[in-house]
Amino acid sequence: MSTVDWLWVLHPALAVVIVYPLIGMTIRLGVQTRSRRVDKAKLPPTTGRDHADLGSWLAVAVVGIVLVALTVVIATKGDPGSFQGGTSRALTLLLVLIGTFVSLVALWRVKAKAYRLSFALLTWAGILGLGAQPEVFRLSDNPFSAEFWTSHYWAGVAVVGLMLFSLGARPEILREPRLRRLHVSASVLAAVLFTLQGITGSRDLLTIPLSWQKPFLGACNWSEQRCPPPPQAPAP
Ligand code: HEM
Ligand code: HEM
Repeated sequence: MSTVDWLWVLHPALAVVIVYPLIGMTIRLGVQTRSRRVDKAKLPPTTGRDHADLGSWLAVAVVGIVLVALTVVIATKGDPGSFQGGTSRALTLLLVLIGTFVSLVALWRVKAKAYRLSFALLTWAGILGLGAQPEVFRLSDNPFSAEFWTSHYWAGVAVVGLMLFSLGARPEILREPRLRRLHVSASVLAAVLFTLQGITGSRDLLTIPLSWQKPFLGACNWSEQRCPPPPQAPAP
C-alpha cells in the first residue's frame, strides 16, 4: 500500500480504535445516569459527570475523525500540482479547516450560552462547508432517493450536528428537564446513526480501490458492473 492508501485508512482506523469504544462507554454511563435518577439505583454519584466527560470527548473525537476524512478526501483527489482551483482555493480550504478546529477548541472552553451556541454552529458550518466540496463523494443529495438514506456522508454530518448540540448544551442538559429529554431523544438517534456509519463505512472501505488499482478500475462501468478485459499476457 502506498502513503495515500494509508492516509485513507486513517479515518476508519481512528473510528474503530477511538470513537466506537467511547460510544460504548458513553452509552453505558448514560443509561446508568438515568437509572440512578429515575429508579434510584445504587450507583456512584460520579456516574452523571463521568458520562458527560466521556460524552464531551466523544463529541470532539467525532468532529476530529470527520475533519481527517474530509481533509484526506479533498487533498488526495488528484495530483497536488493540479489541485482544482489552484493555490487560492487550497489556502481558502485550509483556512476553513483551521477555523473549524479553532471553533471546536473554543466551544470546549467558553462558558456563556450565546458563545457555546455560536461556536457549535460555526464548527458545524465548517464541516458542512468542507463536505460541500466537489471532491467529497456523496451517494446522493436528494432526500427522496434511497441512496441519500444510505449515504455515509449525510448520516456522518447529521451525527456531528447531534454531538455538537450535546456538547454545546451540556450545562442545560444537566439543569433543565426539557433539554435533558431532548438530549436523550437526540442521543438515541445518534446511536442509530453511529450503527449505520459502521455499516456504510465498512461498505465504502470495500468499494474504494487502492491507488494503483484506480487507473484500471476507472475504465469500468460501475452501474453495469463490467470492466474491460485485462490485457493479454505475453506468450511464454
Ligand atoms: C450516544 C451518545 C449519548 C447517549 C446515548 C446519551 C444518553 C444519556 C442518558 C440516557 C442520560 C440520562 C438522562 C436522564 O437522566 O433522564 C444522559 C445524561 C446526560 N448527558 Fe448524555 N448521552 C450521550 C452523549 C452525550 C454527550 C456527547 C454529552 C456532552 C457533553 C452528554 C451530556 C450529558 C449530560 C450533561 C447529562 C446529564 C448528566 C446528569 O444528570 O448528571 N451526553 N445522557
Ligand atoms: C463515528 C462514525 C463515523 C462518522 C461520523 C463518519 C463520517 C465520515 C464522513 C463525514 C466522511 C467524508 C465523506 C465521505 O467521503 O463519505 C467519511 C469518509 C469515510 N469513512 Fe467514515 N465515519 C464514521 C465511521 C466510519 C467507519 C467505522 C468506517 C469503516 C470501517 C468508515 C469509513 C470511511 C471511509 C472509507 C471514508 C472515505 C474517506 C477516508 O477513508 O478518509 N467511517 N466518514
